[in-house]
Amino acid sequence: MRQTETKKLKQASHGLQGKLVVPGDKSISHRAIMLGSLAQGTTTIKNILQAEDVQTTMRIYRQLGVSIETKGAVTRVVGKGAENFQEPVEALDFGNSGTTLRLSLGILACQPFAMQLIGDASLSSRPMGRVLEPLKQMGLKLAQTTERLPIALQANRQLEGIHYTMPIASAQVKSALILAALQAETPSVIHEPIPTRDHTEKMLEAFGVTLQRQQQEITIMPRQQLTATQLEVPGDFSSAAFFIVAALLVPDSMVILPQVGLNPTRLGLLHILNQMGAKIALPDVAEQVGEPLGTLEVTSQNLQATTIEATEIPSMIDEIPLLVLAATQANGTTVITGASELHHKETDRIETVTQELNRLGAHVVAQADGFVVEGPTPLQVEQPTVINSHGDHRIGMMLAVAALITQGDVYLQDADAVNISYPQFFADLDKLLN
Ligand code: S3P
Repeated sequence: MRQTETKKLKQASHGLQGKLVVPGDKSISHRAIMLGSLAQGTTTIKNILQAEDVQTTMRIYRQLGVSIETKGAVTRVVGKGAENFQEPVEALDFGNSGTTLRLSLGILACQPFAMQLIGDASLSSRPMGRVLEPLKQMGLKLAQTTERLPIALQANRQLEGIHYTMPIASAQVKSALILAALQAETPSVIHEPIPTRDHTEKMLEAFGVTLQRQQQEITIMPRQQLTATQLEVPGDFSSAAFFIVAALLVPDSMVILPQVGLNPTRLGLLHILNQMGAKIALPDVAEQVGEPLGTLEVTSQNLQATTIEATEIPSMIDEIPLLVLAATQANGTTVITGASELHHKETDRIETVTQELNRLGAHVVAQADGFVVEGPTPLQVEQPTVINSHGDHRIGMMLAVAALITQGDVYLQDADAVNISYPQFFADLDKLLN
């Protein structure tokens, strides 16, 4: 059970200054462990993210009999293929991690033994029907009909391919279906309505798998084996995003963020902030196992309000809380639509973002599928105020950035939620504040 630490948040007394290397990408780290477990041979992974969600993935695949060890900066995964997974003795506990659960449903859809899948209160309230329904069409067998954890998988020896148009834009659903399709007897074609992050596709190619990718359609030939490889995880753009917005909002800041992953499917926040006046140059990118990375330099700027629509949402899905914060300081009314997926994250982020930022004096109005934000609004509290991460790592970190520009004493309840994706977050923020 997580301890609920309450932490005094710092106000910035001067601009943020310095260079910071953010930890490894969470999405890529999960996939590196999973694909390494599916492959034949020893996969080495440099710069894997050391955080609770990725530890959850490691624990699950160890329970399935995979040897996973980290020494220094290198993690070794000794894979023997999905056909050699061992029957877990206990229930598989996915903790808080939606990515681990949804991708693993695809990986575990065809195993000759039954499994119990559980998770924490947040994960147990999140929708899984979006993955279970298409997987059932492929042959997945459930002990009882459900759309949420706990899930009881039955033994299953065969999957058929699927031709599927996803009703929701979700990289987790797409990835689960691709991972199941690789174990199927017949080809699969998956169509996504709006492009989502393509780390699974890129990494599978590094493991020797052939995929046909045409615009938003992926064709997967069945019964493909993965071959172990060497990977290096770039810095997490979603973690860098907290310092990007902090540097933009705190006057006189200049922050340099080297080795940040710059996969185009993740950069929506950067494009929108530039549209709002941020002036962040897209650097020359280097490639690391198919994933681009580079150095971002951010200085404080005055921002203008903007409008964001559904097609732009998947490329910034995890950064929208930060965008709402930025919009509270921009000139004019920012309108964000097409973001109803935020109801289904670690918390209902439409609710938690609105509630907590308004406690600091912001003018945010929640909509069914987004937000209307009036700016610029000075953030201030009349008396010492406790705001709440609600156990959601990204809400906790966004609020710590908001506190930098808030007049008055602000405390964060459940501050250690940041351990889910970024255990050194407060220490790293301190480096830029000193
Ligand atoms: C992720 C995909 C996104 C994102 C999540 C990580 C991934 O979720 O919000 O933090 O690693 O594939 P959805 O696929 O549900 O949009």
